[in-house]
Amino acid sequence: MENQLLKANAVVPAYDRQRLVPRIVHLGFGAFHRAHQSVYADILATEHGSDWGYCEVNLIGGEQQIADLKAQDNLYTVAEMSADAWTARVVGVAKRALHAGVDGLEAVLAAMCEPQVAIVSLTITEKGYCHSPATGQLMLDHPFIAADLQNPQQPKSAAGVIVEALARRKAKGLAAFTVMSCDNMPENGHVTRNVICAYARAVNAELADWIDANVTFPSTMVDRIVPAVTADTLDKIEQLTGVRDPAGVACEPFRQWVIEDNFVAGRPEWEKAGAELVADVVPFEEMKLRMLNGSHSFLAYLGYLAGYQHINECMEDDNYRRAAHALMLQEQAPTLKVKGVDLAHYADLLIARYSNPALRHRTWQIAMDGSQKLPQRMLDSVRWHRVHQHAFDLLALGVAGWMRYVGGVDEQGNAIEVSDPLLAVIQQAVAGSAEGEARVNALLGIEAIFGTELPKDATFVEQVTRAYQALLANGAKATVAQYAAKF
Ligand SMILES: NC(=O)c1ccc[n+]([C@@H]2O[C@H](COP(=O)([O-])OP(=O)(O)OC[C@H]3O[C@@H](n4cnc5c(N)ncnc54)[C@H](O)[C@@H]3O)[C@@H](O)[C@H]2O)c1
Repeated sequence: MENQLLKANAVVPAYDRQRLVPRIVHLGFGAFHRAHQSVYADILATEHGSDWGYCEVNLIGGEQQIADLKAQDNLYTVAEMSADAWTARVVGVAKRALHAGVDGLEAVLAAMCEPQVAIVSLTITEKGYCHSPATGQLMLDHPFIAADLQNPQQPKSAAGVIVEALARRKAKGLAAFTVMSCDNMPENGHVTRNVICAYARAVNAELADWIDANVTFPSTMVDRIVPAVTADTLDKIEQLTGVRDPAGVACEPFRQWVIEDNFVAGRPEWEKAGAELVADVVPFEEMKLRMLNGSHSFLAYLGYLAGYQHINECMEDDNYRRAAHALMLQEQAPTLKVKGVDLAHYADLLIARYSNPALRHRTWQIAMDGSQKLPQRMLDSVRWHRVHQHAFDLLALGVAGWMRYVGGVDEQGNAIEVSDPLLAVIQQAVAGSAEGEARVNALLGIEAIFGTELPKDATFVEQVTRAYQALLANGAKATVAQYAAKF
């Protein structure tokens, strides 16, 4: 397989892969990491002689991705797709690949304890942090965390694995590593620090002090739309490159990475591959979470309900496009602290990116795990509008769209496959309430999503209820048209 991929009709590694040193252990070898952080490292190796390589790890799920990677000497294809052209590169920066369930946890911990490891990075999805999205704090009663605290030397959660690796490094007299989250969460570095330090403190106070003093948790803002891989994606990549690659991934041409420059044991020169190294990532993160991810979630719920399977189909509907653009500029942009960015241009660029017909980004995929996403994508902005006495009709419609979606039945009466770590709690709220206002109130009662204050805010409750009733009475397309007409 190696030879085949090296002969693919693609940019293939022109650098000496033997020289690469696995200084980064990455947890979460999913679609996004393959098309984002690894591509930056591949560009650095190709164009700047960098020897920073990866040890790729999956802890939970993704057995097949690791097996596929191993089977082809850790090479895989990334295809960039725009409306009129696809290009491909074969990425060669993975030195090793491990799955905790297949290769064993000890192999993963040993890789994290190799002296040269400088960074442990993560794309484990928001739910992988086992925290409450409403508060950002570790949930000590989360089943993974509770089990790991009983048996900290045999952890399953990402926090448990990182803390055990750090404990072993400390015991061996090795230096600590930087822990860098690349997941879509506000202040992802702070969340990661909270989670790791709270877990470590529950295991051993002295270890927690050592981690506090020796580990940094830089925040990052990551951006590149990488839809889940389908058989169709793999067929298209094969047509392009001439090689069937089960580990292949396709993405948009755009990529962005803003990184807080705070590393304890060195880092690659990511800036040479186009990343921005800054002192404070938070304003950029907020911009992306609210304008991009917030409008994505809005389109995902209301688009799915209207029968639009992909984001680009939503963009072909004038009302959805206008509503998404207005949400970005009228209701998200005013809440932001970012300076020196032309937000109108940013919004136009987002609409153009969403319209890319080659992307096929499923509304269902973006709709997943809403309980983990709504707080940072919509509810923080709602709180800002309540303080500043501004209108927030589209945000209210987005929240109502989520409520209608998690009701589990679409507008044609078909079941919706709702996927969410809080599904049991959501289903309990849905089953225990009558359709309409009572359903809205029951869902607003989920504290892990809405906190304690918003459900008491009469204006918020009234606006979400009104939008929800409109969705029930008129359906998503007509309701989005009605709301979009105001802009
Ligand atoms: N796909 C995108 O366009 C995109 C864009 C920006 C940011 N992101 C971020 O990357 C994350 C991953 O996205 P993806 O597209 O790679 O998804 P994916 O489904 O392809 O991969 C998910 C990864 O998370 C791991 N994982 C899942 N649950 C876990 C848990 N409880 N503990 C540890 N690991 C766990 C899996 O092993 C897998 O490697 C997103 O949740 C988001 O935060 C994605």
